Amino acid sequence: MRHCEIAFFEGRFVPLAEANINIMTHAFNYGTAVFEGIRGYWNADDGEVYLFRPREHFVRLLRNAALLKMQLPYDAEMLCELTAELVRRNGYCENVYVRPLAYKTARQIGTKLSPGDDFTMFVVPMHDYVDTSRPLAVGVSSWRRIEDNAIPARGKICGAYVNSALAATEARDNGYDEAIVLNSAGKVAEGAAMNLFIVRDGKLVTTPIYADILEGITRHTVVELAQRELGIETEFRPIDRSELYIADEVFFCGTGAQIAAIGSVDRRTIGDGQPGPLTRRLQTLYGDVVRGRLAGYGHWVLPCRMSAPAREEAAPYLAACSR
Ligand SMILES: Cc1ncc(COP(=O)(O)O)c(C=O)c1O
Repeated sequence: MRHCEIAFFEGRFVPLAEANINIMTHAFNYGTAVFEGIRGYWNADDGEVYLFRPREHFVRLLRNAALLKMQLPYDAEMLCELTAELVRRNGYCENVYVRPLAYKTARQIGTKLSPGDDFTMFVVPMHDYVDTSRPLAVGVSSWRRIEDNAIPARGKICGAYVNSALAATEARDNGYDEAIVLNSAGKVAEGAAMNLFIVRDGKLVTTPIYADILEGITRHTVVELAQRELGIETEFRPIDRSELYIADEVFFCGTGAQIAAIGSVDRRTIGDGQPGPLTRRLQTLYGDVVRGRLAGYGHWVLPCRMSAPAREEAAPYLAACSR
């Protein structure tokens, strides 16, 4: 049972209510922060919360922090350990979402990236972020994806998410569940906070890393599962808007979105409007892998060691982190 919500803030665990930043903080004024979203899945059989690919998330966070010239006193292994401890301290026995942030702390007027960086993290319960029980109705946004030479989309930079917020809000205002965003070349980039795949004649296609996308960890997971479990290779190439309309299947993927089938784009039905066979197979595989139920993928899940005996199980994962 949970008693108090705990955050990691300024180097220690504190009650969430005390994890507050000053209004002069650079990150608050200019969006100079990078973030991650990491899911933890509750496995009732094991009495355990499994964090999914936390090391990959923290490697990405540290690279993105470096993009903003940040220096943090942590490595990916330490951050994985802190995350497991955060979940333990909060005592969640359900699916959770962890939000780590690295941010510029300087209290100054002026946009330049001055020294002064910190790291914080909180965790909330989370089940579906988008509805995965039904196919989504999505629309192509009138907002274009930010370009690499404006704000790198791969950087997961907080300020850049105004772009996502505009697209996601426009989609809902227009009666859609979500948005698909084109890049400045007019090709498909991704969703507001998720990557995108299409299926054409049994082949999986996703947008390439030079399409102004976040290099998603779920995207990588889908590519690996398709190849290793289903023998299906993924083609990485630009996708035209009109290809969305004629695809056999279209789906989003992301830590928040998980694998979400798309039933229509711009009110044009995809396939028969229901989740396609490949989407459904990938959803099942993904649901198993994130809960630590798929053999051969132990290196992707970190048990939070909710119970004392289970803590030993994490040792091989953490050892692999330091290699
Ligand atoms: C813009 C954007 N694209 C894609 C994704 C999916 O990335 P990941 O699978 O690493 O969560 C996210 C984050 O969830 C995102 O914010």
